[in-house]
Amino acid sequence: EKNGFDTFMLKEIHDQPRAYQDTMRGRINEGKEIVLPGMTLSAEQIRGLKQIHMVACGTAYHAALVGKTVIERLTRIPVEVDLASEYRYRMPVIRENTLVIAVSQSGETADTLAAMREARQCGARVMAITNVIGSSVAREADDVLFTLAGPEIAVASTKAYSSQLIAFYLLGLFMAQSMETLDQASLIELIAMLERLPSQVEEMLEGLEPVRQIAEQISNQNHLFFIGRGLDYSLAMEASLKLKEISYIHSEAYAAGELKHGSLALIEEGTPVIALATQELLLEKTASNIKEVKARGAYVIALALEGQTELEKTADQVIYVPRTYSLLAPALAVVPLQLLAYYTASIRGNDVDKPRNLAKSVTVE
Ligand code: F6R
Repeated sequence: EKNGFDTFMLKEIHDQPRAYQDTMRGRINEGKEIVLPGMTLSAEQIRGLKQIHMVACGTAYHAALVGKTVIERLTRIPVEVDLASEYRYRMPVIRENTLVIAVSQSGETADTLAAMREARQCGARVMAITNVIGSSVAREADDVLFTLAGPEIAVASTKAYSSQLIAFYLLGLFMAQSMETLDQASLIELIAMLERLPSQVEEMLEGLEPVRQIAEQISNQNHLFFIGRGLDYSLAMEASLKLKEISYIHSEAYAAGELKHGSLALIEEGTPVIALATQELLLEKTASNIKEVKARGAYVIALALEGQTELEKTADQVIYVPRTYSLLAPALAVVPLQLLAYYTASIRGNDVDKPRNLAKSVTVE
């Protein structure tokens, strides 16, 4: 069942092109329209939405952070994202026409379920993005958008996270259609790029040697940083969690512009800093943050879109991901970051599929 791979995690990372395809299948009509069969949320209700709240835990929370940017950019509906365990107890302001989206791979996470119930009680409409048909989250939501990643066995989530991103792209575009916030030409272009993602992931999975080499370099470190701005910051959080949970190396995700407000003090000679720089509009800003850490002795590994070779002047090493729109970049850039965590953990001899102290499904608070 591992399909010839040593571990479930590696198999699931390689499953992603198929998972993307399955999550998109039947939801894109002739490259020009998103259709979400079974969605009861009407165009009129979408147009009437005042705000969206998203609730989730862990990796699903990181996917929701990307989802926030996607939905806000495409629809201009304000979105807030909360950790489910915080949302429940913070007395969230749920006005009329609030949609709450619960994101959960398993659909059984206790805090996510409780946050969702709390929201319903306050009168919100609830949508679930989940991978498990028949799960509690799926059963209790008004609408469900399934990710079709297939069963995820490894404790560390990979294909479920990236399929959640695909679900958010579909949902964002679907909402934009109802709201007419996107012109037809841009919609068609975005859909075309979305449909290219599976083959681009495939392409990346064929050129992994540089990532393995970087894993060798960081495998004996005690701590490191992931930095980025905008969507790269959301992705940095996911990359950092993945590395921590399976390699047991301490790492921190930082908004690149925030370093000088404190954490820069931790940068010493040789501290690895992984700088995510896939967002073209923010490239110059991130490049100047790279210079900031380099000046304190950091060893910088940058991640950029193909062609963004200017970073080679500042970073010690650059990993490239295929070109795509900024909004879609996390769905590609996550792949080398998952593999970085994977190789680092296996070089350190860890049980990659079953990291210590963790369970796949957290059904207690
Ligand atoms: C990390 C990981 C966890 C889960 C979290 C929520 O790799 O898998 O952080 O994302 O426990 O689980 P679900 O999505 O099942 O609600």
